[in-house]
Amino acid sequence: MRIDRFLVKNSICSRSEAKKIVRSGRVSVNGKTLADPSVHIDEASDEICFDGQIIRYEKFRYYMLNKPQGIVSATEDTGCATVLDLFEGVNKKDLFPVGRLDKDTEGLLLITNDGKLAHELLSPKRHVDKKYYVETNRLLNDEDMRIFEEGVDIGDAKKTLPAKIEKITDQEKNAYYVTIREGRFHQIKRMFQAFGAGVTYLKRISMGGLVLDETLDPGDFRPLSSDEISLLYFL
Ligand code: URA
Repeated sequence: MRIDRFLVKNSICSRSEAKKIVRSGRVSVNGKTLADPSVHIDEASDEICFDGQIIRYEKFRYYMLNKPQGIVSATEDTGCATVLDLFEGVNKKDLFPVGRLDKDTEGLLLITNDGKLAHELLSPKRHVDKKYYVETNRLLNDEDMRIFEEGVDIGDAKKTLPAKIEKITDQEKNAYYVTIREGRFHQIKRMFQAFGAGVTYLKRISMGGLVLDETLDPGDFRPLSSDEISLLYFL
């Protein structure tokens, strides 16, 4: 791979800056400073440094985003800002959100360029747990909660799979933790709607073993740690 392309792929700089950066002597390969941005390097075996720091080649990139309300979980949209618009200063090429949260839903969204992992996580056969914090405009009674846990008729050909619902008691609000193992369209909202309750606030807090980092404000993101990436692979 060409060194300028390598720098761009690793989010060191934009395409327009890459040549200038190499020519300015800030990049070395195996201890030798480069001047020519068209030089080919072997990203698997060469030691490439930028400003003296080793750059590790990462084929796949993984970010945790705390999705804010008001933007869509897509890579592009004609009328609305997308989650990728939040990734300023990052090489966005090939990045996409793993699954969708509604425009008015907040919380954990995985952003990656690893199509195989995304496919695994979203596969209906895998039943990956997704936990949400939910506020509603009506309280569910014990019988509603029992049915909710068994499977709810939300107007699809099949009832929802068994889910977990837990009332959060230390709040004035009607608030719940809900864990579902599917990802049907507007699923949580439709499950509550089946009992005449409207969802007024929805936030995803975990997916498999990956838990939203509560230090991230809505709109913030960070790369996953290697432990977090392993959690996704060994669900
Ligand atoms: N269920 C919903 O209703 N909306 C979401 O965004 C996610 C789950």
